[in-house]
Amino acid sequence: MRDLCINMNNQKMRNIQSFVKRSGRLTEGQKYGLTDLWAEYGIEPTNHQLIDFKTVFVKRQPVILEIGFGNGDSLLAMAINEPEHNFLGIEVYEAGVGRLINEVHKHQLTNLKIIKEDAVAVLKNNIANNSLFGLQLYFADPWHKKKHHKRRLVQHEFMDIMANKLIHNSFVHMATDWEHYAQQMMQTLENHAHFKNTLSAHTYSPRPKRRPITKFERRGEKLGHGVWDLIFTCTK
Ligand SMILES: C[S@@+](CC[C@H](N)C(=O)[O-])C[C@H]1O[C@@H](n2cnc3c(N)ncnc32)[C@H](O)[C@@H]1O
Repeated sequence: MRDLCINMNNQKMRNIQSFVKRSGRLTEGQKYGLTDLWAEYGIEPTNHQLIDFKTVFVKRQPVILEIGFGNGDSLLAMAINEPEHNFLGIEVYEAGVGRLINEVHKHQLTNLKIIKEDAVAVLKNNIANNSLFGLQLYFADPWHKKKHHKRRLVQHEFMDIMANKLIHNSFVHMATDWEHYAQQMMQTLENHAHFKNTLSAHTYSPRPKRRPITKFERRGEKLGHGVWDLIFTCTK
């Protein structure tokens, strides 16, 4: 019965996208990143085939997934600062993907690869269970109108998927500048059997030093928004 419910929920999630594709003119650098450099830094998952991290990354080391990296600046900084980790960034925003690939190339990084698809589909079809050391989700689209809350990525069904993909004692780090979404994240994670707050119950974390300030975070700050970080452990 539980499996049936999960399947039905997964079905629902498949139909509702958590993003709206932003468009606009690409700079020459972004175009170069999306074309000439793509084969070196991009991954194109094929239907229902699992990505083999051993062949994708030069070094065998823990893989951290970041969903929705935007223009990629904070993910780039992390990959530079943490050569002991491999990073997989998934983003549908073409300009951001092109820009990040260009930067990764300039820095000659071998520990950051990029997928330009819907992260939910990639997780379901192409990421092996028990393969991720961490999930990062920074300033995910807040979908602040009530009628759009169903488009928010962080929901119980999504965390069910993540619980399968993450290894035991891995981490989940989320940050948002929307208080209502922060509360939803806190509730969803605390109500899920496989996630445990690294601080005491209902407690948000200060921004850890390893997380650089992101573009959307700065934008929120200018608008007077607060920032809420949540750091959980995945135990299963
Ligand atoms: C509000 S922006 C935040 C970008 C960046 N993290 C920052 O803080 O500056 C959210 C990003 O998530 C991406 N996104 C949302 N849902 C996604 C999904 N299912 N798969 C891939 N990218 C997604 C959007 O394209 C968008 O660029």
